[in-house]
Amino acid sequence: MGSVATKTHPNGLEYVEISTALCKARIFMQGAQIDYFEPVGKKPLLWVSSADDYQPGNGIRGGIPVCWPWFGMSDKDGFPQHGFARTRLWSMESVQLHGDVAKLKFVLHIKDADRQFWPHLTRVAIEFELSDTLKVSLVNENCGHETVTLTQALHTYFPIADIHQLKASGFSGAKYIEFARGPYVQEGDEVLFDRETDRVYTELSPVQLLHTPDGTIEVGREHSHSAVLWNPWIDKSKWLSRFNDEDYLTMVCLEAANVLEDKLVLEPGQSHTLTTTIRWL
Ligand code: BG6
Repeated sequence: MGSVATKTHPNGLEYVEISTALCKARIFMQGAQIDYFEPVGKKPLLWVSSADDYQPGNGIRGGIPVCWPWFGMSDKDGFPQHGFARTRLWSMESVQLHGDVAKLKFVLHIKDADRQFWPHLTRVAIEFELSDTLKVSLVNENCGHETVTLTQALHTYFPIADIHQLKASGFSGAKYIEFARGPYVQEGDEVLFDRETDRVYTELSPVQLLHTPDGTIEVGREHSHSAVLWNPWIDKSKWLSRFNDEDYLTMVCLEAANVLEDKLVLEPGQSHTLTTTIRWL
């Protein structure tokens, strides 16, 4: 039988600890951010910086921060990078254990103070399905009378043991923008890493593989034609918050997204589910 327990981190953040016959996981109420997922008998599938001190108000540097309702910098002054959802408290709406599979749903009740960022009448929820695979869905519903447009990403940090040995595959046919330049057409199917990489891909096929020294991670996306591939490399690592100088050596982010021309346009009454599914092959 599985167990789901609510606990409090020494720094005050509340989280849910999940243990089943298939996995162990931890999800924080702040940001509905999962920072730990380990399938039984396998290595953890999510990376977190040892420099992160789990302070309330900061998104955790690792796991899966949720970028919503915009990805990256906003064009409006003073609006936080990657939206506000990753630092707000979400409510756990339901927990279900079906055999060895745990399902948890979190919703964000937007506070009046955040209406300056998001005045629209929408509902947003995050659903986790935990087995030997991690499935995360970001669900948006337009409950108002106007069309709503947003960008978003499930900003997953993967452990890759050694960036110099990482091969990421599944990119052929895609286009990308990098450092505000492009779009470039992806050459070949693979990406290797020997410099800062910060690519926003579009027209990307639904499955990528991360070939790491510890094995291959499969990363799937549904209702998403875009994704972000990011490693800060040496210089950016030095000034990135809650990140050690050497951390770039052991992580990569591959983020299921709806960005650029793949942005989400929701008509009144419409809903949309962005899903990423992650597992060791
Ligand atoms: C990535 C962006 O998704 O997130 C990078 O492409 C950015 O440009 C990175 O540096 C981390 O952002 P933050 O706000 O968590 O430091």
